[in-house]
Amino acid sequence: MNEGVRAMMESALTARDRVGVQDFVLLENYTSEAAFIENLRKRFKENLIYTYIGSVLVSVNPYKDLEIYNKNHMERYRGVNFYEVSPHIYAVADNSYRSMRTERKDQCILISGESGAGKTEASKKILQYYAITCPASEHVQTIKDRLLQSNPVLEAFGNAKTLRNDNSSRFGKYMDIQFDFKGAPVGGHIINYLLEKSRVVHQNHGERNFHIFYQLIEGGEEDLLRRLGLERNPQQYHYLVKGNCPKVSSINDRSDWKVVRKALTVIGFNDDEVEELLNIIASVLHLGNVQYGGEEGSACITSDTQIKYLARLLGVNGAVLTEALTHKKITAKGEELMSPLNMDQASSARDALSKAVYGRTFTWLVNKINFSLANKDESNKNYSVIGLLDIYGFEVFQNNSFEQFCINYCNEKLQQLFIELTLKSEQEEYEAEGITWEPVQYFNNKIICDLVEEKFKGIISILDEECLRPGDASDLTFLEKLEDTVGGHPHFVTHKLADGKTRKVMGRDEFRLQHYAGDVNYNVNGFLDKNNDLLFRNLKEVMCMSENNILTQCFDKEELSDKKRPETAATQFKTSLAKLMEILMSKEPSYVRCIKPNDSKQAGRFDEVLIRHQVKYLGLMENLRVRRAGFAYRRRYEVFLQRYKSLCPETWPNWHGKLSDGVSTLVKHLGYKPEEYKMGRSKIFIRFPKTLFATEDALETRKHGLATKLQAGWKGYSQKSKYQKLRAIAIQAWWRGILARRRAKRRRQAADTIRRFIKGFINRHKERCPENEYFLDYVRYSFLTNLRKNLPKNVLDKSWPTPPAALTEASELLRKMCMQNMVWSYCKKTSPEWKHQVNIHHLDFVFRDGCFFFFSHRHSCLRSVRLNVSPKVLQALGNEKMKYAVTVTKYDRKGYKARTRQLLLTANSAIIVEEGKLKQRIDYGALKGISVSSLSDGLFVLHVPSDDNKQKGDVILQSEHVIETLTKIAICADKINNINISQGSIQFTVGQGKEGVIDFTAGSELLVTKAKNGHLSVTAPRLNSR
Ligand SMILES: Nc1ncnc2c1ncn2[C@@H]1O[C@H](COP(=O)(O)OP(=O)(O)OP(=O)(O)O)[C@@H](O)[C@H]1O
Ligand SMILES: [Mg+2]
Repeated sequence: MNEGVRAMMESALTARDRVGVQDFVLLENYTSEAAFIENLRKRFKENLIYTYIGSVLVSVNPYKDLEIYNKNHMERYRGVNFYEVSPHIYAVADNSYRSMRTERKDQCILISGESGAGKTEASKKILQYYAITCPASEHVQTIKDRLLQSNPVLEAFGNAKTLRNDNSSRFGKYMDIQFDFKGAPVGGHIINYLLEKSRVVHQNHGERNFHIFYQLIEGGEEDLLRRLGLERNPQQYHYLVKGNCPKVSSINDRSDWKVVRKALTVIGFNDDEVEELLNIIASVLHLGNVQYGGEEGSACITSDTQIKYLARLLGVNGAVLTEALTHKKITAKGEELMSPLNMDQASSARDALSKAVYGRTFTWLVNKINFSLANKDESNKNYSVIGLLDIYGFEVFQNNSFEQFCINYCNEKLQQLFIELTLKSEQEEYEAEGITWEPVQYFNNKIICDLVEEKFKGIISILDEECLRPGDASDLTFLEKLEDTVGGHPHFVTHKLADGKTRKVMGRDEFRLQHYAGDVNYNVNGFLDKNNDLLFRNLKEVMCMSENNILTQCFDKEELSDKKRPETAATQFKTSLAKLMEILMSKEPSYVRCIKPNDSKQAGRFDEVLIRHQVKYLGLMENLRVRRAGFAYRRRYEVFLQRYKSLCPETWPNWHGKLSDGVSTLVKHLGYKPEEYKMGRSKIFIRFPKTLFATEDALETRKHGLATKLQAGWKGYSQKSKYQKLRAIAIQAWWRGILARRRAKRRRQAADTIRRFIKGFINRHKERCPENEYFLDYVRYSFLTNLRKNLPKNVLDKSWPTPPAALTEASELLRKMCMQNMVWSYCKKTSPEWKHQVNIHHLDFVFRDGCFFFFSHRHSCLRSVRLNVSPKVLQALGNEKMKYAVTVTKYDRKGYKARTRQLLLTANSAIIVEEGKLKQRIDYGALKGISVSSLSDGLFVLHVPSDDNKQKGDVILQSEHVIETLTKIAICADKINNINISQGSIQFTVGQGKEGVIDFTAGSELLVTKAKNGHLSVTAPRLNSR
């Protein structure tokens, strides 16, 4: 089987993408680390840096710019299924985005890997993907800009050049991007974790302090530096020379400064805030330059230059600061005393202050960015979220300290979450597909998490206890305590407890944790101090008095009165991790596992030893094992069938039955054994990649066969066309002659026709004669063809093409026939009852809004009197002759109460009679119109002018013989054209300009009620269905 075929097999992939396997689940030898690494290597050599393990993306840092991040690439991944395109960080971003939108479930993308593996770059690529591909309004654009610009700012203050990475993030970062219901980013929120504050005061050889210090010194304007009391030379500052690394070729501090300065403005910093922020940065540099001298036992500051700057920049009293930097406040017998510090203590106090100031300012900065990213649209709080976690991966150095302990603990927790969620989602998929779950053996690292974090018994608790207890606690007593308490734990060992072999590779001041990813020795030196993270009280007091607005927010006065000991660093970290786990648990995760290919930041170098180490520490083999535990491959039936249908005569070219039956037929034809696959509800699950590869091979062969056939066909075709070409040359000459002759003949005929036409037009009014014969025929012919195309569509359509003079009479006859025909066709469709009720031979009609109403000319055929009119009424009518009388129901205009009345029609008016009295008279002249519904309710409204004082508004009536009644009214009042047939509702005036509404709804039974909205609601069957 060739390599191309072995690759992931979706049709959209190019041959280049098919190097190795694109998804490790398709590795036949999935338990072999060597096979795993070989696959990574093959792909890396082809610049294919991304490979999947199921839905987990493994990314190898290319250390060079690849042309795979432009807009076209983004478009390629937008809205496309994972497996249809080659693996990419954009596919992960898009997949999360689509899941968020379609399933309305919050998502998170967890990016991990060791320093320099490309986590931050990956998170930036994801952010850029959303910024470019998501919909945006003006407001959204601002948020997008701020989200993007938060990166350079946080990187300036939180990243530094280390030996491993020129732009190493020295803090963990979790960022929420909030999307509104349209999928546009409308806000964001960042949580930072454990900034490496020690870097402020110390850097290892070859490393630098945080970028911002160098950017400010290199890029800051002359004026600014003068105000800050800084020189444009990093070598001048003690805090910047510890690593002896002032310049880094890959970093341009000056241009980075410009980027950061601009980003601060985009985020919403005004000039004053920037100045206050930079005052703090400059203060840290000045603090570093504070030098101590004096006698042994009591340190004093040798030069007051720095103190002057510090007093101004921090907005504190210089003398108070000087004292706080050289003394410690102690409380003895209820009294506060200032005890002098020795040189070492004073230096530590100063460094503690620098670290505290920088660390708190960093947190303030994150809060400030959060404020700027906050979604301020109150109406739009119902957003969905995609979280991005860019956090330090497992770290193992020669000498591992408190920081590595915290970082590795964090990774232990993330691994736990990862296993739990991966297993969970696998299990859920099996359940959804109705496939029995087969338990997977895996290492549950909860035991290690417990060892670190368990209350009272865990390492963090023991460390805290040592930090808090009175007496001479030290790093070594902490180690002893550990031995006493967790000495028996299977994942814990110390020099003392170890066997001979382990002892050789362990120091006496170390303890070893057997992490899920491997063993790490931690040196206990500095654990207590780092965990305490103490800042002397009097230094805190000075900072609380600062006039710098940022510092007043960072050092809260309440902190001074709070007698409780501040939480230790490890406990704070533990708590924030627990919160992070909660956040992540509530979301659907995706994973990006970053790998660094070599230690020299070189493109194209694949250091196998280093990579094996990371594959192990990232737990990738374990991940693959879990993912492959049951079935290597699964696809929806339609996708599977579509791809392989050509391999089975029954499914080719199309399968018309159930999809699952189609797939069953197909795989049976291919000879799949029962243990090789399972049929789920919507997917086929294939256990071994080899089964799939065989199928893919078959497809390739089939394609090849088809291609050969096509080629043969093509060859034949091309020979034939060559022959035809030759023949065509001979034929062409002959054919051209024929064509020319035909064209000449046609031209002659056309000239004749035009001549005859003009002659005919001139003589058109004469009797038919040879001169106009052609023209008249032509005009008649055109009229009739035009008429055929433009016949009226319905009886109300009065349009009719204008006939030529010779056809006036015929045209009129045709028009009548056409009308009659339309009426006939309509009548044919009407029910017998209708026909019975109305004598259709003598009809005129009104047609409005799609409804037909007939009015008989021979209305004498309709009944004239449908009731016994009382003599009293006849008397009241006097000379007026009654033309029609019918019982009606009258609805009052407000409460819609129904009352029985009589309606009489005379020559001049419609009269409403109540118990023998003529109650209301509507002169036909005043009758504005009549509205009636298109249903069978019998309701109609007589509209009268609203300014007619005699009338109290329109009259709502209902007649059982509504057609007859309306015909009579229409004819008596000569209002046939004033009948409005309404389909939905009728408006009527209630009097004094007020209006009411009758709503009509088609239903099975007649129902007249007053609706909640005050309308009269009428439900009735349709007329035709009567
Ligand atoms: N996809 C990529 N394409 C090109 N270069 C990359 C890519 N990913 C990373 N790099 C290079 O590798 C360097 C280190 O990457 P990045 O800063 O993302 O590492 P990291 O995993 O965040 O490390 P740390 O834990 O130290 O913060 C980048 O500065 C960049 O030069
Ligand atoms: Mg980083």
